Amino acid sequence: MRDARPSAIYLKDYRPPAFLIERTELAFDLHEDRAIVEATLHLRRNSGVGAGEALVLHGQELELLWLALDGRELGEGEYSLAEDSLSIADVPDQFTLSSRCRIRPQDNTSLEGLYKSRTMFCTQCEAEGFRKITWYLDRPDVMAEFEVSIEAEKARYPVLLSNGNPVAAEDLGNGRHRARWHDPFPKPAYLFALVAGDLRSVDDSFTTRGGRQVSLRIFVEEKDLDKCDHAMISLKKSMRWDEEVYGREYDLDIFNIVAVDDFNMGAMENKSLNIFNSSCVLCSPETTTDKGFQTVEAIVAHEYFHNWSGNRVTCRDWFQLSLKEGFTVFRDAEFSADMGSRTVKRVEDATVMRTAQFAEDAGPMAHPVRPDSFIEISNFYTLTVYEKGAEVVRMIHTLLGPEAFRKGSDLYFERHDGQAVTCEDFVLAMEEASGTDLGQFRRWYAQAGTPLLSVGGDYDEDAQTYTLSVRQSTAPTPGQPEKQPLLIPLAVGLLGDAGNLPLQLEGEAPNVESEDNTHLVLKVTEAEQQFVFSGVRERPVPSLLRGFSAPVRLEYNYSREELCALMSRDDDGFVRWDAAQQLAISVLQEVEGQIREDQAARVDPLYLKACETLLQDTSLDPAMVAEMLRLPGEGYLAELAARRGGARVESIHLARETVLKALALHAEATWLEAYRRNVVNAPYAPVAGQIAARSLRNLSLEYLALAREEHIALARAQYASAGNMTDSLAALRVISQRGTDAQRDEALDDFYRRWQAEALVVNQWLQVQATVPGEGALARVQGLLQHEAFDLRNPNKVRSLVGGFANGNPLQFHRADGAGYRFHGEVIEALNTSNPQIAARLLAPLTRWRNYAAPQGAAMRTELERLAALPKLSPDVFEVLSKSLV
Ligand code: PHE
Ligand code: ZN
Repeated sequence: MRDARPSAIYLKDYRPPAFLIERTELAFDLHEDRAIVEATLHLRRNSGVGAGEALVLHGQELELLWLALDGRELGEGEYSLAEDSLSIADVPDQFTLSSRCRIRPQDNTSLEGLYKSRTMFCTQCEAEGFRKITWYLDRPDVMAEFEVSIEAEKARYPVLLSNGNPVAAEDLGNGRHRARWHDPFPKPAYLFALVAGDLRSVDDSFTTRGGRQVSLRIFVEEKDLDKCDHAMISLKKSMRWDEEVYGREYDLDIFNIVAVDDFNMGAMENKSLNIFNSSCVLCSPETTTDKGFQTVEAIVAHEYFHNWSGNRVTCRDWFQLSLKEGFTVFRDAEFSADMGSRTVKRVEDATVMRTAQFAEDAGPMAHPVRPDSFIEISNFYTLTVYEKGAEVVRMIHTLLGPEAFRKGSDLYFERHDGQAVTCEDFVLAMEEASGTDLGQFRRWYAQAGTPLLSVGGDYDEDAQTYTLSVRQSTAPTPGQPEKQPLLIPLAVGLLGDAGNLPLQLEGEAPNVESEDNTHLVLKVTEAEQQFVFSGVRERPVPSLLRGFSAPVRLEYNYSREELCALMSRDDDGFVRWDAAQQLAISVLQEVEGQIREDQAARVDPLYLKACETLLQDTSLDPAMVAEMLRLPGEGYLAELAARRGGARVESIHLARETVLKALALHAEATWLEAYRRNVVNAPYAPVAGQIAARSLRNLSLEYLALAREEHIALARAQYASAGNMTDSLAALRVISQRGTDAQRDEALDDFYRRWQAEALVVNQWLQVQATVPGEGALARVQGLLQHEAFDLRNPNKVRSLVGGFANGNPLQFHRADGAGYRFHGEVIEALNTSNPQIAARLLAPLTRWRNYAAPQGAAMRTELERLAALPKLSPDVFEVLSKSLV
């Protein structure tokens, strides 16, 4: 916490480090009230750039006890200490610097640096946490070989871990012991990790295709030993997949995963010692939902894939964060698609982009995939850097094709192994290996905001041509008033009466690309452009942005009949889903208009019929049917409404409830049949077929509960008999949302009694309560802050309860009296001091204040202003507030 206003740093100011560190020796002495850290850094002036420069090290909240240069202790006048730095003016070209510091892990609630999570010590260093451990050149382009020794009380901390290989273990005789570790791969400090705790492990092994035997271990508290199988299986699948798809092998004899309860993010890819939020690694059918199983598989893969895309080749500076994150998210998405249903995965990812990332792009924190400035880097672990970054890599994959893309990734890994590089280096490797010019494409890295593609279609019956006219534009974002046209891969098809038509672009060689000539990727490069298809024998319905081929908003003036045609007959799964969404949105907006004008609401029967037909079609993947029949959320509808003059939460909510209910009643018998048909009799397994059935069955339950009060009995019966958490929690949600107060309280109490010993399940319980509708919601959430199951220091609990309320209970969060915002602001105020990263993240819903009509918009702003006037703001919170209020 500083008193001066934190200032921004800029990509354009990047300078190579004046000094490099070749070797880093660390000795930790861990105690209950302090940790002593001794560091010996083997430093060298960076030839060419470091001449004459002082040595400036980063450090925060460190108590310096001793400092020596080449073994000689430095006196007070020989170095200078500032708020966050230590400088030594005159140093030789090569020397060792040794320091001893005292830090207080027990008091570290920021969960950055070395801290205590329950009974164990652990670290989190990305992005700039290492400077809270010792004085260092804490920047990713300084890579050193690490030797680490850890000393602690043996009884409390029998397991002592760090990166690389164990080299020694000694009993010190006085109840303490010591372990030494050595990591042969030079790495930036952000990949350093240490763990000390009373942990047990599940052990396995993996033989790489080159014949290396790797020992795999997942470390957890003893009570969680039965929840590691799925993560272990996922790890082995990931290791195999990276060999098969990218030719990347694991490079050490050990790979360790540790589960910790208090963690700001999902997980961290520290070299050979991945540290996971326990919610992203522990699984069992009894305690974890299908979604949870899939998340664990994806995150285990993500962290493992970082070993190459992130660790072996790392980032030069934090502006390049998407170099490792965008690429790795693309890799894990493809892995998940290969392990489960490709189309469902694509729909899920497109949904995240359209609902959450587009909102970020349209808000005050909008930034490019490669930002050009930041105040606090922690604020830039965003959907834009991760998910849009992955979409940018996916577009390269689409433009190059799989073979050339693989050549590009091989070249990238080979050329930059052991280096800290930039997004530009990645693009260059892709260009060189494929011979494709990505000149214009590069703008995707630099330009913020979501492009809008406005498409028109024109059929000329005489000439048998079909012309697509495409206009692209991107609205201004903070600091970027002018936008340039991007290269946008627009995948298209043309749907005819009897299926998708063969495509032939006028003036191009016959389209024989694969056996499938009904699919084409158009390259949109201009602000306005036309594409003419010839030999089109009937008036088609254009199937656009197939597979979500680019992270853009697409506008085409479809009639509802055309949307029904796409939804039922197009051969691209994404387009079918998207047509269902567009149809739903157009119906929802129509009903909202009726409500606002006090007219009787009428839900278009065409829509109801199309949905019912879909639900009756048992030849379809039930998971896709469920996704298509799930209405867009109120948050997304609010984003859409913002562009049409300001969102009104009440009418959006009413409209959505009206359409849900109409669909529930219209297809009641069919919902009931789907509910019965999709029962899973086999023992629980998190496999695509079962997941699909449960997902449609539980969606059916939601609709049924709306259609008729009696159907709550189905939910209660399901709750009573469920043998897995997916079905149990789905039933609990339905009872809490749609049941009577008594039914709800009974189920919630029962659930807590059953699961109070399982922290991760209790978090789900907190979240369900946060979304209970009605006037009493805020009081309930406030009450839960005092519950024994809640702890403001645990980010998972804060996300479940406070995040769950803000994001999952729109009507009560956006109460007209502003009490929801005030409550939210008070939690942020408390977290601003204890955990600034979490505080800043929680601000996101309030930053959307411009989207809302009066009185909400104004009240949201008022709460932001109140927070901005607080005396001591963390840089994290300061940055979000100041950008939201300009
Ligand atoms: N690098 C981690 C990942 O994406 C995320 C992370 C960032 C974790 C910062 C902790 C702190 O895999
Ligand atoms: Zn990552």
